[in-house]
Amino acid sequence: MKSNLALIGFMGAGKSAVGKVLAEKLGKQFIELDELLEKRAGKSISRIFAEEGEIAFREKEIETIKEIAARKDQVISCGGGAVLNKINMDRLKPDSLIIWLMASPEVIWQRTRSQREERPLLKGKNCLGDIQQMLRLRKPYYEGAADIIVNTSRLSIERVTELVLKELAKNADFNSKK
Ligand code: S3P
Repeated sequence: MKSNLALIGFMGAGKSAVGKVLAEKLGKQFIELDELLEKRAGKSISRIFAEEGEIAFREKEIETIKEIAARKDQVISCGGGAVLNKINMDRLKPDSLIIWLMASPEVIWQRTRSQREERPLLKGKNCLGDIQQMLRLRKPYYEGAADIIVNTSRLSIERVTELVLKELAKNADFNSKK
């Protein structure tokens, strides 16, 4: 039985907001991978991208996931690009049910508009077309990794949480008890 949930999905899909509520409801520890990575690196993700580049960031992401995947009873919010390296999902899968929170490009664009500075991959990309293109490229990775898919586009955080909990109740592979 798996004791962790790992939330995957594009920036702005609601991984952190939903993850926090889910963790509270399930009595599990909430882990924000990006935050942990920043703490370990001693600098923000924007600075890591600017000073060391995306490849260095991805290496740090792999190390952080390796550390976290070995622990139990957590709700893990993964960075939007964590699925791009297969090793991350391979390490998470044995003890984590993978939930893809998806959202339409329009909704993602709306939700991320004001936070472009904190998200290096969206910096300078202020048109919907960029998001559509990135989503198209990433969709097979999210789809391939997901055990459960929830479309968050028109839903509140509470409603998404409810839907996830409903799916978990049907899933014999997940241990919701601590
Ligand atoms: C990224 C998403 C970000 C962060 C980094 C790269 C991506 O996380 O890990 O900026 O490649 O989609 P969020 O999805 O939590 O914003």
